[in-house]
Amino acid sequence: MPTSTGRILVTGGSGRLGRSVVAGFAAAGHDVLSVDRAAPADPVDGVEYLDVDLLDADATVAAFTAAAPSAVVSLAAIAVPFSAPEAVILQTNAGIAHNVTAAAVAAGASKVVVASSPSIMGYGSPAGWVPPRLPLDEDVVPRPWHAYGLSKHVAEQVAAMFAAAHGDAIRFASFRPCYVIAPEEWRGAPTQQGHTVAQRLDDPSLAAPALFNYVDARDVTDFLLLLLEKMHLIENGETFFVGAADALARRPLNEVVPELFPELAEVAAGLGGTSPAFSIDKARRVIGWEPKRSWRTELAIASVRDS
Ligand SMILES: NC(=O)c1ccc[n+]([C@@H]2O[C@H](COP(=O)([O-])OP(=O)(O)OC[C@H]3O[C@@H](n4cnc5c(N)ncnc54)[C@H](O)[C@@H]3O)[C@@H](O)[C@H]2O)c1
Repeated sequence: MPTSTGRILVTGGSGRLGRSVVAGFAAAGHDVLSVDRAAPADPVDGVEYLDVDLLDADATVAAFTAAAPSAVVSLAAIAVPFSAPEAVILQTNAGIAHNVTAAAVAAGASKVVVASSPSIMGYGSPAGWVPPRLPLDEDVVPRPWHAYGLSKHVAEQVAAMFAAAHGDAIRFASFRPCYVIAPEEWRGAPTQQGHTVAQRLDDPSLAAPALFNYVDARDVTDFLLLLLEKMHLIENGETFFVGAADALARRPLNEVVPELFPELAEVAAGLGGTSPAFSIDKARRVIGWEPKRSWRTELAIASVRDS
């Protein structure tokens, strides 16, 4: 049974991550409303779907007020860097983050969670990037170098701004999901960048730009359920990395990373064994979340199912 009562409004519920989140919230017994301008490919029984352009502030407030959610999880965005003109990505993602958070507050929601991205950290910059330490944690200062990263940095600041404006009566948080693998992608469906998980593992240059990060969409769903359950107990306006407990690489990152990025050899020296380049210790410590899926188990399960 759900531990929080009331309706959860999810924006972007028709997307790669949103599909799993909507299905997982509904399976956990929640009353779920998905707001997206795209229709769901595979609607979930009992979930209501609403077509709203979240860039339209008035329409967003009207829809949210009519829905009266107790919690809002905002996933809607242009999710891929450079997939639209830079100005469009910045205006879309920053605009949606503000419109959704403002509408959630206007509608009386008591919990608001906004999707950010690890790419705000600045890895992959053509001008070079060497972080102060690896694995990255939430205390490392973001240095976004493209409009997508900047737009997500703004989204986090939107959550922090509303927390500053409203105090603890309303709880805000943001999270940085790593490269999301949806359940069907373990069985060979293309991932966000168009290749399969197996191809991403076989050719390290594919996962290298995101420092081999990944997370199963169902683990993100579990994170969100736990966060919603515990938000009233933790600091307001917090942000969290949400990734797998290991790296999406067949060899230790302190071997693979220096081969592709010699300038990172020193900071990556401690990433032995299966260690990822992104720490999830804050989510473990603050809300007690632990990812359950790894590429090692999920690919094996998928191949047994297919045989
Ligand atoms: N997929 C990843 O690997 C990944 C990694 C880090 C962060 N994120 C973030 O997680 C969130 C979800 O990512 P995703 O991969 O599911 O993205 P997606 O592109 O699959 O889904 C985004 C959804 O948002 C909707 N949307 C976009 N603009 C809208 C608007 N103006 N009004 C209403 N709906 C709108 C789209 O129709 C789509 O269904 C995004 O905020 C993304 O930036 C994703």
